[in-house]
Amino acid sequence: MNTFVIVLLLVSGANTQFSFPALTADQIVGNHLKFRMNLASGGLYVQGVQLPRATNMLKTFWDWTLAANAQTYADSCPTAPSGATGYGENMHYIWTTTPASILDSYAFNAPLKWAEQLSDYGLSSLTMDATILASGVADATQMMWAKTKYVGCGVKNCGPDPTQSNKTRIVAVCHYTPKGNIIGEDIYEQGAIACSNCPAGTVCESYMGMSTSMCV
Ligand SMILES: *[C@@H]1O[C@H](CO)[C@@H](O)[C@H](O)[C@H]1NC(C)=O
Repeated sequence: MNTFVIVLLLVSGANTQFSFPALTADQIVGNHLKFRMNLASGGLYVQGVQLPRATNMLKTFWDWTLAANAQTYADSCPTAPSGATGYGENMHYIWTTTPASILDSYAFNAPLKWAEQLSDYGLSSLTMDATILASGVADATQMMWAKTKYVGCGVKNCGPDPTQSNKTRIVAVCHYTPKGNIIGEDIYEQGAIACSNCPAGTVCESYMGMSTSMCV
């Protein structure tokens, strides 16, 4: 246990410019990976309809540079997407009367909220188009985007929001590369067998003898 604490201190000491310890980064990535694995293996249902398996779903990894960038944007207490090009961007706002002193949980819950967009709004196609982008599921489809390999996130307590009875507003931001949600491209390649079309240089990941359905 002591070793564990020391390791965490060393990790956070080495990354003092970032808001998250490595453990939180793992949890945020983990929530993305669970979702991607479930989708790739045919376990994701949207409004009662099973989505086809993914043949080319990449495993996603944490990137501290993306995280620093996302934290910088969160620190500005944004009320809208940055509009930046070059990376994908997901945002989640939370209003609360009792903000937790440690904000990490808001960041690792954000991917769960983004996934819920699918049950709220549905998904009309697996090829990205303007209708899908405007339908309220763009954060979910960025998480579903097969070719996205890296994610990094930040979170900020933006204080009382006078437009919401002075509830505390918390902003979580994740940035992604390669960027998803490109109009005309498939969100992912569908097929009967997960991992059957992993990109060159990648193979299907195996964990304890089982396929994770993601290319690594
Ligand atoms: C919110 O806080 C401001 C500044 O303290 C105050 O003037 C305002 O009355 C508050 N609004 C509400 C709805 O409590």
